[in-house]
Amino acid sequence: MADLTPLLAFRWSPRAFDPTAELPREDARALLEAARWAPSAGNRQPWRFALGHRDDEIFKRILVNLPEPDQRWAQRASALLLCAYRAGHAGHAYDLGQAVAHLTVQAMALGLHVRQLHDLDHAGLAADLDLPAGLRPHAVVAVGQLGDPLSLPADLLRSETDLRHRLPLADLLLS
Ligand SMILES: Cc1cc2nc3c(=O)[nH]c(=O)nc-3n(C[C@H](O)[C@H](O)[C@H](O)COP(=O)(O)O)c2cc1C
Repeated sequence: MADLTPLLAFRWSPRAFDPTAELPREDARALLEAARWAPSAGNRQPWRFALGHRDDEIFKRILVNLPEPDQRWAQRASALLLCAYRAGHAGHAYDLGQAVAHLTVQAMALGLHVRQLHDLDHAGLAADLDLPAGLRPHAVVAVGQLGDPLSLPADLLRSETDLRHRLPLADLLLS
C-alpha cells in the first residue's frame, strides 16, 4: 500500500453515504470527463451513462432497479450513475470498466467515494430509462461523501467495518 498514490491507497467502497450531501454540478462534470478521457480499444468509447441526483427522476428509476438490500444504502448516495456499453464487441465491457476506474480515482481527488454494483435489473433499467436499442446496462456507481456508518442497518454496519483484504501479490503472478 505504501507505494501507491494516495488516491488509490485511500480508495475504498463505502455503503454509508451522507444523505444530506449533494453532488455539485462541476464535480459531476469532472467525474464524467474522467470517464470520457479513458482509453478504449480503437478509441471506440463504447460507454454511455445516465446520471441521477438524489431524489430526481433518473435517480429514482435507477434505484428501483437495484436489489432491495442494496437500495437500503444506495438511496443515501448523492448520485447514481448507470453505466452502459454498446453491445456487439466482447471488449466493450472491458473499456467501460476502465472508464469507471478512472471515474473512481477522480472521485477520490474530489473528496468523494463510490461503490459499484452490477447486480441490476437490466431489462427494468433499459425500459425505465428508455435506453436506445443495443445499449447494455452493466453497472451502477453510487457516488457521495462518507456518512455515519452507525446509521446503517446492523448487517451492513458489520460489512462496512470489516477489514478489507486482497490476495497476496505472489498469488497473482503466474511466473
Ligand atoms: C463490478 C463491481 C460490482 C460490484 N457489485 C456490488 C454489489 O452488487 N453490491 C455491493 O454491495 N458491492 C458491490 N461491489 C463493491 C465490491 O464488493 C467492493 O469493491 C469489493 O468488496 C472491494 O472493496 P473495496 O472497493 O472497498 O476495496 C462491486 C464492485 C465492482 C467493481
